[in-house]
Amino acid sequence: MPLSVKNIDLPLGAVISGADLSSDLDEPTFSLIRNTLDERSVVVLKGQRIRPEHQTRFAARFGKLLVHEHSKNVLREHPSVSVLSNIQEQGKNIGVPDAGMVWHTDGSYLDTPDMYTFLYGIEIPVKDGTPIGNTLYASTTAAYDALTEATKRRIAALRAVHSFEYHSINRVRAGGTKIEITEQIRKKIPDMAQPVVRTHPVTGRKCIYVSEGHTTHIAGMDAKESAALLRELWDHTRKPEFVYSHSWEPGDLVVWDNAATQHRATGDYALPLRRLMHRVATEGPAPY
Ligand code: OGA
Ligand code: MN
Repeated sequence: MPLSVKNIDLPLGAVISGADLSSDLDEPTFSLIRNTLDERSVVVLKGQRIRPEHQTRFAARFGKLLVHEHSKNVLREHPSVSVLSNIQEQGKNIGVPDAGMVWHTDGSYLDTPDMYTFLYGIEIPVKDGTPIGNTLYASTTAAYDALTEATKRRIAALRAVHSFEYHSINRVRAGGTKIEITEQIRKKIPDMAQPVVRTHPVTGRKCIYVSEGHTTHIAGMDAKESAALLRELWDHTRKPEFVYSHSWEPGDLVVWDNAATQHRATGDYALPLRRLMHRVATEGPAPY
């Protein structure tokens, strides 16, 4: 199949057909995908039939893979590949059943958050002929550009605190399972102040970098004022004109840029409808 790139009719998203990631992509094909990702922030690579080694080989061309050595949700032979799934075997989840139900960007509570995430759809729930379990993506660059000049000035130098503990509380609120926050986790993943507006490390565009799932407050701001400003920025960022809802097909590999987007899972499915995804991510720079 010839290579084709189709932009989605929104500020983000492109669909690429005809790139087979089970083969080692040549440089022109890889560059086309990479440039499309820089421009469109979310890229859907259709029709893949890949194994974990193909997914990791492809992702590793974008940066250093994040390895989750101690997680029980990774493939034993591939500690950089996490399993997202609602499937159970012998009464136990085979992966994370409820990842990302509140708007967030991956790893924003880390000093060096995830840069790109590569999510491969293997089994997708379908109800009455329609795929469900969509993933929503919002363009943080388009949302930033559409702010008033007054708001841009107001938020330019602010920092906001992102918290893994808050992420876990939010997850329970969204109907997900609890992550026990031990003293060890608190030490390993302390709350992290990040710029409210970050500069994209590749494109130089400005991105809104606060999210409902991870951000607790604006550093040094009165609590009420901070809550109101965050609410305003969250609501603005997820306006329909900035949001792409990805309806999955088995064989989709979706790559997203965690600086230029926020995303969330919809979780509108349950067993016996099964969802199975393999997930890889690359390390990014500290946001600036
Ligand atoms: C993720 C995530 C959403 C989904 O993998 O980081 O948020 O729809 N996934 O599975
Ligand atoms: Mn996520």
